[in-house]
Amino acid sequence: MRLSIIVCGIFACALAACTSVTAAGVRSSSISDVSPADSPAAPPPIASAEGLQTVSSPDGALQVTLQDSAGHPEWSASYDSEAILRPAKLGLRFLEAGNFESGFVITGAETRTVDTPWEQPWGERREMREHYNELLVRYSDPDNAARFFDVRVRVFNDGLGFRYEVPKLTPDGKVSLIDELTEFSVDEHDTAWWIEAGNYNRYEYIYHTTEAAAIDRAHTPMTLRTAKGTHITFHEAELVDYAAMWLDQQRPGVFKASLVPWSDGIRVKKTGAFVTPWRTVQVSHDAKGLLNSNLILNLNEPNKLGDVSWVKPGRYVGIWWCMHIKKCTWSSGPEHGATTERTKAYIDFAARYGFDGVLVEGWNEGWDGDWFNNGALFSFTKPYPDYDIDELSRYAAEKGVRLIGHNETSGNVTNYEDQMEDAFALYEKLGIAQVKTGYVADGGGIQRKDENGIWRYEWHDSQFMARHYLHVVEEAAKHHISIDTHEPIKDTGLRRTYPNWITREGARGQEYNAWGYPHLNPPEHETILPWTRMMSGPMDFTPGIFDLTFDGPDADNRVQTTLAKQLALYVVLYSPIQMAADLPENYESRPEAFEFITHVPTDWEQSLAIAGEVGEYVAYARQERGGRDWFVGAVTDENGRSLSLDTDYLDDGTTYQARVWADGPNADWKTAPYDMSIYTQTVRKGDKIDLHLAPGGGAAVWLTPVTGMTAGQ
Ligand code: NOJ
Ligand code: CA
Repeated sequence: MRLSIIVCGIFACALAACTSVTAAGVRSSSISDVSPADSPAAPPPIASAEGLQTVSSPDGALQVTLQDSAGHPEWSASYDSEAILRPAKLGLRFLEAGNFESGFVITGAETRTVDTPWEQPWGERREMREHYNELLVRYSDPDNAARFFDVRVRVFNDGLGFRYEVPKLTPDGKVSLIDELTEFSVDEHDTAWWIEAGNYNRYEYIYHTTEAAAIDRAHTPMTLRTAKGTHITFHEAELVDYAAMWLDQQRPGVFKASLVPWSDGIRVKKTGAFVTPWRTVQVSHDAKGLLNSNLILNLNEPNKLGDVSWVKPGRYVGIWWCMHIKKCTWSSGPEHGATTERTKAYIDFAARYGFDGVLVEGWNEGWDGDWFNNGALFSFTKPYPDYDIDELSRYAAEKGVRLIGHNETSGNVTNYEDQMEDAFALYEKLGIAQVKTGYVADGGGIQRKDENGIWRYEWHDSQFMARHYLHVVEEAAKHHISIDTHEPIKDTGLRRTYPNWITREGARGQEYNAWGYPHLNPPEHETILPWTRMMSGPMDFTPGIFDLTFDGPDADNRVQTTLAKQLALYVVLYSPIQMAADLPENYESRPEAFEFITHVPTDWEQSLAIAGEVGEYVAYARQERGGRDWFVGAVTDENGRSLSLDTDYLDDGTTYQARVWADGPNADWKTAPYDMSIYTQTVRKGDKIDLHLAPGGGAAVWLTPVTGMTAGQ
């Protein structure tokens, strides 16, 4: 692939002004690629321009326009001539520096093209390509040269991102952002898949399928389908030291950025010049195409951690489901889950079946009583007396397994930050290389002690917490620890920059199925997740429940899927660390089904969404990292269906043995969830793989090249 960056002022592009540099300089080679000057009075140079500026994707299909409409900054986008985003506002309001919204005209513009390959150290695909056309536009107040801001737009074939780049605006550099005016303007009759934002349950809601007009305030990623069938996802990338963006429907079809406020009402606090996160729009002509987008990662900075060979994808088990189905407790006492004896049994089980890690929750002091409301009581270094952490670390190492740490904070961030350094140092000494964190607290209920010793309450997705979550990841990296955040801030692709931010929760996971009606995930849940939550990145969903009716066949509490669908989820819902969430005895009683879990990889060479419609069904094919085997997973909603899946991704001239775990002829999540057909067939590129999916069902396929056999034999 040719690596090139062309930097060119649109209107003043003398030949000498256009430079072409190698990939090594991608991020810093052009004068316009650095943040705006750190001075209120000295705008950096940018080629002069006026009026309306457009930039297209490398394939020409997606076109973005920035303009000043009677002094109002605006943007719009079209996709193959469909006006997918109507002209909508841009702008910012500051407490100390006034409003940057009207009386601003375009005074400069530059373009460039970047085409750079890069590799993910782990991920859903190894080879990545960052290929975009960029437009940088300056909006200025004609009456005051110090009042300007830039908007940088990057347009890829699979979507666009734009961000504000703001110079230092006040003498001491301090500014308080009180509103971001960015709007996204769509047809109110588009179909939307979304969850409510700014509510008590963070991101853990059942997804709604409605007309766009029915939305009040939604989280991103939010996905829409236009009347023409175009699929669009709104989200953001590289959310660093800024508030998350909720989308507020202000007029029919017009969604305004609503930045999560601090407890004092300010949205974002900054010092000096700054850039905002990228506001992103992913597009595709069909549903499955959207799932193959790499936009969010491509808009993040490259790996900042250097050698990350210590970040290890893999499978894990844990003392976890047992608490959720109330067969043991996090708290101490006769039912305590995290005992030395039970943990040794889990380590033995993990070693026997090739799992890499054993998560143990409830190992540390602080769980007794109302832990949800007593975050200040947690110790992150003191184990309960019946949990011999030194012996267990030794035992795990002897068996070739690692303990996975667990830090539930109940949202008391101050208590966690006070202990974090000691905790990570201890875990590193004990060989604990992954830590699951938790922030169980209502939305708006994160506790922090301010500089005057007063407790303040913040949102999980506020600027304060954007800082905190990343701080944890950076501190953990110093101890070669990877972080799996539960009750997180949404993923915006920071795993590219910090590959030890290995996975997170951030949607309704399996745990909801343990808690009983009305919490259960409906059968369509996992057919909406790929186009919503998963558009942001990997999720620690914790699939693999085998005892689907754990409270008896007539209880309301159950998992509303078939057994085959639980297997398919390992391929459908990407995470570099995947849990086998059920109790060991439930796996040992169904060894034929368990075999899929003990072989499915969690790190991939390639991933392809190969079929799907939002909220109905989805199928993925993924090739194991460093190998030739392919794995296919397909899941459906409450409707049974037959899928006939393409195999174009397979190698030419090779015969594969396909082992299939599919719903049996009588399977139905309600009446016969365990009915499963396990069979083998041979497949060559171009053949179809036909799969029967029961209501609430799924199928998993493992394809292995058959050595010595080629096409025609
Ligand atoms: C919520 C997490 O999502 C879950 O996995 C964990 O077991 C509990 N909090 C307790 O920390
Ligand atoms: Ca949770």
